Amino acid sequence: RKPAELFPGRVNSAGIDLNDEATLKTVLEAVTKSESFAATALVSGQPVTGDPKSVVNPATGAKVGSVIEAVAYDVRRAIAAATAAAPAWNARPVEDRAACLERLADLLEENRPELLRLAVQEAGKTVGDAVAEVREAVDFCRYYANQARTSLAPEILPGPTGECNELRLVGRGVFACISPWNFPLAIFLGQITAALVTGNAVVAKPAPQTPLIAHLAIQLTHKAGIPADVLHFLPGGVEVGDAIISHTGVNGVAFTGSMPTARAIARNLLKDDNRPIVPLIAETGGLNAMIVDSSALPEQVVADVVTSAFRSAGQRCSALRLLVVQEDIADGLIRLLTGAMDTLVLGDPADIRTDVGPVIDAGARDKLEAYRQSMKANWVHALEKPTLSGTFVPPTLIRLEKVEDLTSEWFGPVLHVITWKAGELEDVVARINAQGYGLTMGLHSRIKATADAVSDMARVGNLYVNRSMIGAVVGSQPFGGEGLSGTGPKAGGPHFLMRFVSERTISTDT
Ligand code: SER
Repeated sequence: RKPAELFPGRVNSAGIDLNDEATLKTVLEAVTKSESFAATALVSGQPVTGDPKSVVNPATGAKVGSVIEAVAYDVRRAIAAATAAAPAWNARPVEDRAACLERLADLLEENRPELLRLAVQEAGKTVGDAVAEVREAVDFCRYYANQARTSLAPEILPGPTGECNELRLVGRGVFACISPWNFPLAIFLGQITAALVTGNAVVAKPAPQTPLIAHLAIQLTHKAGIPADVLHFLPGGVEVGDAIISHTGVNGVAFTGSMPTARAIARNLLKDDNRPIVPLIAETGGLNAMIVDSSALPEQVVADVVTSAFRSAGQRCSALRLLVVQEDIADGLIRLLTGAMDTLVLGDPADIRTDVGPVIDAGARDKLEAYRQSMKANWVHALEKPTLSGTFVPPTLIRLEKVEDLTSEWFGPVLHVITWKAGELEDVVARINAQGYGLTMGLHSRIKATADAVSDMARVGNLYVNRSMIGAVVGSQPFGGEGLSGTGPKAGGPHFLMRFVSERTISTDT
């Protein structure tokens, strides 16, 4: 049966087929086009003035466009306008708001070539990753539109003394959406559409590395019918972020990024004693492990490890960081894995043959490179750097002794490996849990009792058994972590929208 029959009311985007020659040709023409994109902060739809900053392609150093960032004054104006606009937006029927998201989904599909170009040229995404990115953004729009229709309707609750009790779900006011560069369209729009459809006005800050695709997304969102004073675009760095978070007009925050930044936001939100406690939805990183036992299928494990650790140059919060292999099969598995690593093509992501593109910028490259060099004595395998001028980090496999030796999330194509002995499985899971993070975990085992035991023990938001551990599908694999990996809400899941609303009970005596 077709997905539409199995899941009525829910259809994920079909994406596009890169195996089709004509489609591939069009996509490759789009992603290699050179045209400068000019982005600016938008307050009530109006561009701000200021000095444009260049945005460069991390693979080539070529200029992709420019951005005029917001300043604190723009933040204040945007929040004032959003505060004024929120009540009327919240009063609009849910159907109107849901319809805007569906129009946005269509507009994203219509504008796919330019979105792909910016995902590749600005964010360094491979063509395959860029296609998946647009698809996920479309999925968020349609999924949250559907969810809003089914879950935001007011509910009449029984009254013990005959009164009428109505439970309403209403927007909280102004939501700040602060998003990362690694999903500059999907996470950016995922947060914004969830906040908008639930009746909030939004101030949106993209990562400083990826303002161009975010600007286009905002333009399309306005075109889809979201009023300009309901959605404001505030690109910039940490000063802009601080100005947003410290503003007492912000009634909720959705943030995806690092744990230190999430903590700084939480502290900032609590600084003013006169301010209500503002809900923070935070999705941060992980020290994600994959456990492999001796019953696993080695070829499948290797394919899934390569995808999980090196696809997107390891720049996903879900990515595999620590491979935990049962000793009996470790040598053979590592031999296969290093062979598979040798087949990876590093290079310009606009080239369809590329498997691993650049990391996002020179700062990320230098940090990863310094770490790689500091661990050189433990290298099991490392690829050569490509001769391109961009910010590349060669996929590298590093041996560690124990779970606790992995102390930081290295956000790039750097994988660690340790071994465990028969009988130690529970201890291994307990030690991974004790690291405190809880985003993704992988397990490869053909023993059902092992899968059941790990499913029960693992304290993670997303556990993947006998498959890769990246690429959560909207509506099927709600995504988000626990512990140091975030505050728990699952993007693309049936309960996400509830985090953006206030509940009001109106009891009327009859
Ligand atoms: N949603 C993304 C994934 O599942 C997050 O990094 O890979």
